[in-house]
Amino acid sequence: PATPGRAGTPRSGSTRGEEIRTARARRYLMCRPEHFTVAYEINPWMDSSRAVDTDLALAQWEHLRRTYLDLGHVVDLVDPLPGLPDMVFAANGALVIDGHALGVRFRHAERAAEAGAYAAWLRAQGIEVTDAVALNEGEGDFLLAGDWLLAGSGFRSDPASHAEAQELFGVPVVSLVLVDPRFYHLDTALAVLDDRTVAWWPPAFSPGSRRVVERLFPDAIEATEEDALAFGLNAVSDGRHVVVAAAARHLVAELSSRGYVPVPVDLSELLRGGGGAKCCTLELRDAVAAA
Ligand code: ARG
Repeated sequence: PATPGRAGTPRSGSTRGEEIRTARARRYLMCRPEHFTVAYEINPWMDSSRAVDTDLALAQWEHLRRTYLDLGHVVDLVDPLPGLPDMVFAANGALVIDGHALGVRFRHAERAAEAGAYAAWLRAQGIEVTDAVALNEGEGDFLLAGDWLLAGSGFRSDPASHAEAQELFGVPVVSLVLVDPRFYHLDTALAVLDDRTVAWWPPAFSPGSRRVVERLFPDAIEATEEDALAFGLNAVSDGRHVVVAAAARHLVAELSSRGYVPVPVDLSELLRGGGGAKCCTLELRDAVAAA
């Protein structure tokens, strides 16, 4: 595929896919990885004995931000705080639907202070934030897919947070259980491509949860283990363009054949913290864009 069209002005659909995929402009929140490093280990990807190249992380992150802007999206920035090396993973900062946010509560003490930093930023934008009661790590474990809010548990978010989100947003929650510690957040094992389609790696889910995904998303794209290990499922879709790890080669090809426009990115240095494109991105849904 050539240069992707901007999100606000969808071009005609792919000739290879049967469907015309339509982009919708989004508003994202990101956090510069100025203080990014691997100082502790809270997921199997993190190895604090190996030095992190923060400049490389910054360059890869900047490319991701540029990619969103080139696609016609709005990107807001929250100031990174020293001592919070994982704050770059903005997806974990909240869940925002209809201009209202559910705040987060992290499982690990090392990230606890990020919750207040994200809530303060959202409130300063005039976005109402409801404080979380149960542990939940925001869009790491909550993914809105059309009429359903997919909600992960097993490693980080408490299943009680699923009911909390359903009560707050009035969106039916579909609880999914994660079983592979390498894919500790829902957004590492499943990507929402549009209201009716997801991409996922089924073995990351419990048998019952697999059947639920199959039932709700008969057109789901199956990634390979290699795709999943490259964090290909930690992807960000605007309905047409899918910002996805370049190393997830099978998934990238599959997306093209299904009429999406893959926009490959390389976030290898952020993967040292156990994150990819989606982890670095929080969607601000129906929140009025900052001037
Ligand atoms: N080091 C971070 C953690 O383990 C990575 C978070 C990745 N974020 C995500 N949305 N999957 O909490």
